[in-house]
Amino acid sequence: MLDIKGAVAVVTGGASGIGETVAKYWVRQGGKVVLGDVAPEGLARVENDIKQMGGECATIVGNVTREEDCAALAELAVERFGAINLVLPCAGIIKDGLFLSPDRATGKVNKKMTLDQFQSVIDINLTGVFLTVRECAEQMINHRCKGLICLISSTGSLGTAGQINYSSTKAAMSVMPKVITAEFFRRNIADRIRCVAIAPGYVGTAMVKGMKPKALDSIVENVPIGRLVEPEEVASLIAELYRNEALAGDVYFIHGGLRLGSRG
Ligand SMILES: NC(=O)c1ccc[n+]([C@@H]2O[C@H](COP(=O)([O-])OP(=O)(O)OC[C@H]3O[C@@H](n4cnc5c(N)ncnc54)[C@H](O)[C@@H]3O)[C@@H](O)[C@H]2O)c1
Repeated sequence: MLDIKGAVAVVTGGASGIGETVAKYWVRQGGKVVLGDVAPEGLARVENDIKQMGGECATIVGNVTREEDCAALAELAVERFGAINLVLPCAGIIKDGLFLSPDRATGKVNKKMTLDQFQSVIDINLTGVFLTVRECAEQMINHRCKGLICLISSTGSLGTAGQINYSSTKAAMSVMPKVITAEFFRRNIADRIRCVAIAPGYVGTAMVKGMKPKALDSIVENVPIGRLVEPEEVASLIAELYRNEALAGDVYFIHGGLRLGSRG
């Protein structure tokens, strides 16, 4: 079992939501955090909170779609704390809309998802994760660090209407742990650096709480535990995935029993 005490977590999207919650959870367990985000105010607020808690934290403003920003984030972790033990690429966005939207009266398509709406989600949620993980894992290998790469998939990976862009990126997150684990196995590093993904259902972060109340109510109606998953519950799962070295190469769902594809 790995110990979080003294371990270094690199978190993108650390200025809010799941990234912020995991960062604070990690610090409460005695770990150190390096946070990247495009939002400087949020980043400063989280850094201040963590320092008030007596935790060690370094932050860097950066965009995960930029190769040099991801390299700078990984380098900062090694410079400041000498290691990377957890890589958590939480930076992500949604830009929902129907793929093609035929007009109800005429039956003709009058609206479609724009290239920008599709591409911007791919850039951040997929290419951004690839760059973050590639740069961090390079530092982990070169500095002989032990730990976990934990990708954030979603129940949307199974296919959600109105999210062809987002669901496509989250499906990719569920296959990447297998590819990375297989490659690391070939090079004899899979025992030191594991890779998994978590697939949350609806988590009570700003991303979800910002939805229209009617849409939110109909979501919660389909969750057997009767509420959104708490970000703290996601953080607890990630901590266990880190500690337990038998967990590797797979996707771990956390959705409160969400009825996926069936109303049973
Ligand atoms: N909230 C949920 O219900 C839920 C469910 C399943 C998966 N997820 C995934 O969890 C992750 C975090 O979601 P969240 O709910 O905490 O969202 P959030 O909006 O609270 O946080 C996302 C963070 O990413 C940052 N970000 C956005 N674009 C960026 C970029 N280009 N470079 C760097 N940072 C950037 C934002 O500034 C923000 O701080 C996302 O990948 C999301 O898809 C969330």
